[in-house]
Amino acid sequence: MAKPRVLVTRRWPEEVERVLVARFDTTLNESDRPFAETEFVSAMQDFDAVLPTVSDRLPFGLFNQPGIRAKILGNFGVGFNHIDIAAARAAGIVVTNTPGVLTDATADIALTLMLMIARRAGEGERQLRAGEWKGWRPTHMLGRELGGRTLGIIGMGRIGKATARRAHFGFGMDIAFFNRSVVEDDETRAMKARQIESIDDVMATSDFVSLHCPGGVENRHLVDARRLKLMKPEAYLINTARGDVVDSAALVDALRARAIAGAGLDVYEDEPAIPEGLTKLENVVLLPHLGSATEETRTAMGMKVVENISAFFDGREPPDRVA
Ligand code: DGY
Repeated sequence: MAKPRVLVTRRWPEEVERVLVARFDTTLNESDRPFAETEFVSAMQDFDAVLPTVSDRLPFGLFNQPGIRAKILGNFGVGFNHIDIAAARAAGIVVTNTPGVLTDATADIALTLMLMIARRAGEGERQLRAGEWKGWRPTHMLGRELGGRTLGIIGMGRIGKATARRAHFGFGMDIAFFNRSVVEDDETRAMKARQIESIDDVMATSDFVSLHCPGGVENRHLVDARRLKLMKPEAYLINTARGDVVDSAALVDALRARAIAGAGLDVYEDEPAIPEGLTKLENVVLLPHLGSATEETRTAMGMKVVENISAFFDGREPPDRVA
């Protein structure tokens, strides 16, 4: 029997590409150039499986065309708000993602951002590279410590918990969190993490607010001008979730006015564009969506996709099906 035709939309870790090529009739994107919308249209018509990733866009129109051959989208990434899931479902196309394997790497980046912004690491490095460092002095670039401060987590899923664990056991922070459903488990109890009923209260009482909820319509601008105003002037906002969870224009205003102390961002509303004004501010740390960017994690993410599409083509239920 002919092997299923599989299309990979971006370059993946070599080890995973080798497995895909051995197992399927695979077309790789050797130049790593992002696909244009029209290329996605033909991809859906020519391949049995399309393997997109979080920087691709798969809107309604893609699923609403004649002659679709694709039966599964094996997304490389845990977030899938770039895929119109309802449209995929209506077209009878299975969608899978890669949960679990990027938890630690993403929590590490949340802590990196917390430390960088509170200890002014980006600002310090910029000063040094610009040749403007005048040497050690008792009042030079004083930051704040994490210990004893409250970390407010919005979304206590896998990554939220892993961030809380590092902050509590590693840095002695108190943990408060908002989560839609009740979270009661040994780990949360061991951290003495307090579940708070409203996002507003987490925003108002935390020294660091770290976002760990999904993006998409439901959470679009969950952190808006009103909620930013609730934050303490000495508090920091950390976003490793999705850019659209924060109203970036409102965030720029709050940072400019020093209404909050700072922000650490790994994700943006319209990546790779950076919201107007952010790069000019000193009180923000900006990373280029590095949350899952380790060799180990990206390989594990790719292998999860292999597992999902292999199950599908073997007639089994893919382990990480989201549609
Ligand atoms: C994901 O998998 O959704 C992450 O944003 C990639 O780092």
